[in-house]
Parts: sequence; structure tokens; C-alpha cells
Amino acid sequence: MGKRILIRNIGELAGIVPAGVLRKCGDEMSSVESIRNAWLLIEDGRIAGFGQMPDQVGHDGKGVIPGCDRESATEVIDADGGMVLPAFCDSHTHIVYAGSREGEFLDKINGLSYEEIAARGGGILNSADLLHNTSEEELYRQSKARLDEMIAFGSGAIEIKSGYGLSTEDELKMLRVIRRLKENSPALIKATFLGAHAVARGMTRSDYVDKICNEMLPAIDSHASLGMTKKIKGSVISTEPKGRVEKSSLADFVDVFCDEGFFTPEDTARILEAASKYGIRPKIHANELAVSGGVQVGVKYNALSVDHLERTTDAEIEALKGTETMPTMLPGSSFFLGLPYGRAKEYIAAGLPLALASDYNPGSSPSGDMRFVMALGCIRMRLTPAQAFNACTLNSAYAMGVSQEAGSITVGKRANLILTHPGWNLTKIPYHYRTPFIKKIIL
Ligand code: NIG
Ligand code: FE
Repeated sequence: MGKRILIRNIGELAGIVPAGVLRKCGDEMSSVESIRNAWLLIEDGRIAGFGQMPDQVGHDGKGVIPGCDRESATEVIDADGGMVLPAFCDSHTHIVYAGSREGEFLDKINGLSYEEIAARGGGILNSADLLHNTSEEELYRQSKARLDEMIAFGSGAIEIKSGYGLSTEDELKMLRVIRRLKENSPALIKATFLGAHAVARGMTRSDYVDKICNEMLPAIDSHASLGMTKKIKGSVISTEPKGRVEKSSLADFVDVFCDEGFFTPEDTARILEAASKYGIRPKIHANELAVSGGVQVGVKYNALSVDHLERTTDAEIEALKGTETMPTMLPGSSFFLGLPYGRAKEYIAAGLPLALASDYNPGSSPSGDMRFVMALGCIRMRLTPAQAFNACTLNSAYAMGVSQEAGSITVGKRANLILTHPGWNLTKIPYHYRTPFIKKIIL
């Protein structure tokens, strides 16, 4: 038998979802199933069972929980009345970048907009220059530190984009760094190729789109390889099964910054056509700076998600109805850039699902704290704690294609869990939004 961990005396085990439910839509987002006074058993890194603590369990954990006597559980964790929750899922980040953009932070404070900073050669092009001049090893080191910080904040599944390379070589460098993060972290990581993040210096938009289609995508495809067993370090408990070898592509998804001043819906369609030949599904940046047409083109190509949505009209809500595309809002960038917040409640009222993600990046959201994202969802978008929690867990897992594996308490899923200090509940987490609540992360 493999490694077993029994967690007992859980004050509230929250985020229980039946197997096979991969996302929550509309009214379903208003509820979070939980069990008070619970136990949960982990076997070989997966949730093997959970239930209510029987009255007669002795304080040594012996006996009565089915299959959970002390002898067979290799490790017993006493939750001491704390909550156990699925770890947050963060379906949209740009954490592989070099250096920082603190200078632009000052420009922003002095009144320049995101677009004005970009037009002066700041923004994404500034990060591309920094990345070009940074070694792959150093880029990995800086990115790994951010990933570890996100895990400490409670994220257990994380999507990471390229997009600060803007040349074939530097985009591959970023994607190799993401692959190395996948191999060396207990978090579940997905990689997205975002060559179309900004037009590379010295190129026309149309030439650059050609290059993405004819050079970058084929290069990425030819670099797929067999992955390695994960190596685990640090204070996080990892229960990743050993010895599995999976095919690891350099890119799980393709993304385009379809927005005013960046790429048009026509550019986006060309890139998505090209990516579909490699079987790479889209996740699209849409409607951050303008009503861009990005939602519609994303839906047309069956995007897994369309993200940002700070500026949307009823047409976008209509376009998303009846699709498999997850609308994803990034309140951290609304907060940092002073943009409008997405119309989250209206999306949900229309029966749509909704995911929230951090957008952690050096220009528009320099934080990967999903608990703060959940708080912004409640405080600024007026989501209930249950809606915000579902958006930050199951639905965000869906938006990165991992809701079979993560995002809820479900038998068979990875045991990616947050154990809180005693005295916490779902409402208190976004309410006391700066008070430390995590006692232990289990991945
Ligand atoms: O999601 N909008 C495009 N990309 C990022 C910002 C990237 C940057 O400024 O470095 C975003 O906000
Ligand atoms: Fe982004």
C-alpha cells in the first residue's frame, strides 16, 4: 500500500462536489457543500474518502473511521477544528518574467495609463528586453520563487503563460522554464503559449502573426517530450505518485491578447486556426482595454476560457450562453490598473459559469494571492463568498482543463488541500482578507 494520510477533527470540510461535475453554472455557484466535524483520507496523493467523525473515535485516531485505523494510516494530522478546503486554482498567470517593472509603477502613480506606458516602450516590450538579457537558469530561479509564494498563499493548480519572449528562441526559453517548474513543483501546472502578447519590436503586426503561425507553433510542437517524475522539496507535503511518465508538450494551450492596440479578432482567428492543427486549445485575453471581439472569436474556436472581460456588453453574455467556454475575470488587474470590474453578477444571473484568477504579472497585477482575488470578488464584484469560492476553485480548474483532477473535495481527485487554523469559515476568509488563515498546505 502507498502513502496514507488521515486528517481528523476537521471543523468543516468544504468544497465537496460529486464526481463528474466539472464546473458550476448560474445558481449552482451559490452553494458550497460541506461536512462539519469531518475526516478525510488521502491515499497515494488522492482523496480516498471522507465523512463525518464518528462519536466514538478515540483521541489516538484509532478504529472506527472506515479503513482508517492508526496502523494503516502512515500519518495522522489532527485538524484541531480547522477547515479543510480544496486548494485554490489559478487559471491565468504570467509568473515567468525577469526583473520587475517598479519604474512603471511610479509612472502609473503619476497618472500614465497602461496603454500610455506600453506606447512609450514600457509594458510587455520592457519585460521582453529584460527576459532576453536574463539566463534561463536565472529566469527559472526568479519564477520558482513566485510559484512557491503562490503555493504558500494556497494555490495548488496554476496556469502559466509565455509571452515575454516575442521571438521563437525566447518563447521556447519561457516554455522550457514552465516545463521545469512543472517537473519541480508539487503544484499542478499548465503551460500556455502567448506569443501574441505584443508585436515584437521592428516587425509589422501581420509579419509577426505570420511568424507565430509558421515558425513558433511548429517549433513548440517539435519540442514535445516525455516528462519526468516530479522531485519535491521544501515544507509543502507532497503526495505525488512516483514513477509516472507522461507526454509533456511545451504548450497545453494557446492564448492571444485580443484587445485594442494589440491583436485584432482577425489576427486571433489566424493564430487559432494554426494552433488547431496541433490540437492546442485556446484561452483568450479579451475585452480588458476595449470591447474587442475577443469573446466572440474565442467562442467560435471553442476556447476553454475567455479572460479579463472588464469591458463587456450584453452581446458577450449572449455569445457565451450554451458554450463550453469559461468566462474568467481577473479582479486583481481591475484593482491595480483602476479598470472597471467585470459584470460578474450579471454573468451568473444569465446562467453562465464564472471563474476568477489572479493574472499575476509585472504590469497589471503583481500579486498571485488568490485569497485576495476572492476578497475582491466579494467586495468589488459583490459575489457571495460561496460564488467567489466556486469561481476560485472548481471553475478556475475547469478554465485550465484540470477540473477532473483538482478544484474540489471529490474522491479520486488530487489531494490538493488547504488546512486552516481553527475558527475560520468560508465567509471569514474574504472578510478578514489580510489575517493569515492557512495552517498547512497539502499538495
Ligand atoms: O493580462 N493583458 C495582457 N497581459 C497582461 C499584462 C502583461 C504585462 O503588462 O506585462 C494582463 O494584464
Ligand atoms: Fe493576463
